[in-house]
Amino acid sequence: MQVFTTVASLQEVLTLAESGSIGLVPTMGALHEGHLSLIDRAMNENAVVVVSIFVNPIQFNNAEDLQKYPRTVEADLRLIEQLEDKHKSEECKVMVLTPTVEEMYPTPVTETYHFGPIEDVMEGPRRPGHFSGVAVVVRRLFDIVHPQRAYFGEKDFQQIAIIRNLLEQIEYPIELIACPIVRADDGLALSSRNMRLSPEARAIAPAIYDTLQQAIEMSDYEEVEDVCEWVLSTLVSFHEMNPQPNGLQFEPEYFEIVNDTTLQPINSWDDAEGIVGCIAVWLDGVRLIDMVRFR
Ligand code: PAJ
Repeated sequence: MQVFTTVASLQEVLTLAESGSIGLVPTMGALHEGHLSLIDRAMNENAVVVVSIFVNPIQFNNAEDLQKYPRTVEADLRLIEQLEDKHKSEECKVMVLTPTVEEMYPTPVTETYHFGPIEDVMEGPRRPGHFSGVAVVVRRLFDIVHPQRAYFGEKDFQQIAIIRNLLEQIEYPIELIACPIVRADDGLALSSRNMRLSPEARAIAPAIYDTLQQAIEMSDYEEVEDVCEWVLSTLVSFHEMNPQPNGLQFEPEYFEIVNDTTLQPINSWDDAEGIVGCIAVWLDGVRLIDMVRFR
């Protein structure tokens, strides 16, 4: 593994690297098994894998979230090293880019991206500027690394649709690889933000996935609207039925059942071939997101 803090030093080594495909795995660090599954897959499929670790300030619409975002670079590097050991027999080179904000953005960022209807739903209106900030940093990473493949997790389902749209807008021939969600044994989707959950909050967090699983069963015999309402009311009443000490917050922000390509809400199970449900929940001041596939 080679670690670079400057764009120029990474690019120098990338130009010298032998031919073979480059896979890019953009992350904000605080790595867990979810991130590692992306890196693992990229290592199986490419001669060179570039992992970026960069907490991108321009995609945070909430100053407190940015300030509290976990930063654990040393531990992250150790995890990548362990994964490298697993791939020892393969000829895959791993390069990690850990730039400062000044290195990524030497001049103030002025560009913005728009994505139309796919950003008018779910995360979009609730996190103004978020997806434009994601697109700016991901495009910069594309321009630095010139990967053949880029790896993203389905946990951030809308983000994948945004990156797919970005690739169409900028016409880069990069293959987007969407990877399944990795969960804890109790079903909670792994997330760097889980580190911020108190033990009490962590204990009730699996209720999110449990409820989504039940929603999938209900979708065999209930209408879309009824499943949607049931999920929201179950999560609200879950909290009411299990009053937490110190008034622990457990509050669904949205749950939407959408076409997996257009991300527009559907009215009937026949409205789309691919259908997913996406949710955001506030738990003790931490915002968690998750998704499940219905069809
Ligand atoms: P971050 O939240 O660090 O996630 C990096 C990548 O890991 C994303 O593609 C995300 O979907 C994926 N990921 C996170 N948790 C996962 C899980 N439990 N299972 C599978 N994949 C998971 O997403 C970002 O960073 C940023 O927006 C970024 C794309 C790096 C741009 O700054």
